[in-house]
Amino acid sequence: MDGKREPGLTGKARAAGCAAKIGPGDLQALLQGIEIPADERVLVGLAKPDDAGVFLLSPGLALVQTVDMITPVADRPFDYGRIAATNAMSDVWAMGGRPLTALAIITFPVKSEPPETFRGMLEGAIAAVTEAGAALVGGHSVDDPEIKLGISVTGVVDPDRLITKGGARPGDVLVLTKPLGVGVISTALKNGAATGEQADAAIASMSRLNRAASEEALAAGVRGGTDVTGFSLMGHLREMVLAAGCGAEVRFDALPLLPGARALAAEGWSPGGMQRNLDFAGCLVDGLDALSPGDVAILFDPQTSGGLLLAVPPAEVDGLVARLAARDVTAAIIGRFTARSAHPRVRAY
Ligand code: CO
Ligand code: CO
Ligand code: CO
Repeated sequence: MDGKREPGLTGKARAAGCAAKIGPGDLQALLQGIEIPADERVLVGLAKPDDAGVFLLSPGLALVQTVDMITPVADRPFDYGRIAATNAMSDVWAMGGRPLTALAIITFPVKSEPPETFRGMLEGAIAAVTEAGAALVGGHSVDDPEIKLGISVTGVVDPDRLITKGGARPGDVLVLTKPLGVGVISTALKNGAATGEQADAAIASMSRLNRAASEEALAAGVRGGTDVTGFSLMGHLREMVLAAGCGAEVRFDALPLLPGARALAAEGWSPGGMQRNLDFAGCLVDGLDALSPGDVAILFDPQTSGGLLLAVPPAEVDGLVARLAARDVTAAIIGRFTARSAHPRVRAY
């Protein structure tokens, strides 16, 4: 043993220079002027984008479809595949749907990367999809210098019980079902500043299905929600507030955080995507002046495979939190929706 560490998948992705993700502002601009044909079977589509598209099949039954593609977020191919699939299925659960089938879309450097990497990624994706009670039924791969794993998911949803970004009502309680800080910890890890235990906790969190959170939310009559991913807690909350035409208040000290995330953020470890999120949505959130730069970084930290952000009717919240806890799911009450206001507000405590 010479003690040299093999560069894992994330190191290679960094060396290759990750493709920049299109930010929330860019997407709006790119869609501008594109005509979306009216189709009454499309219950949720490009005209009013949500976590996933919804297409009415027959009365009481709709298809829910989504696709997501990510660069390596873990060094072990199996973890990466599992997280990519978990992350993609999350959009179906965020709509109140149930995933049924998945397809893998893989770009992969066939000549420079061993086949075990490809197999590991696929095995991880299959593990997550199987755990979800769905089936990975096929896919497509392209020889490409950069590894990327996309997962497309098809599921079903009851069109009368859709959970949408616009479904929140003033007075609803904000519940978050996974801890924050994945971006902070990944960045610190790449720079040798995070511990193995901190990295393991982040990977475990990203690998957790949002299935139980979605099932319990539906049982509690939740109609407003989304999943927290690249646009950060504040970016996604802002989407919900805009779509629902209400306001929101978040208490910073109530946020569930991954072990080490707050301290590492205070040391300045945060990914480039954090600054993009802050540039885009920072001026639209009130109360940030009272927080330290590290705490602001947590609020705008891009998450991969984050939790569900739910608008829970107040009479249901205690029961929901108890049922989620019984299923070993994080269930943090982090704030509430308020009457219409221009900007979501964050309180330090
Ligand atoms: Co989503
Ligand atoms: Co998505
Ligand atoms: Co093909």
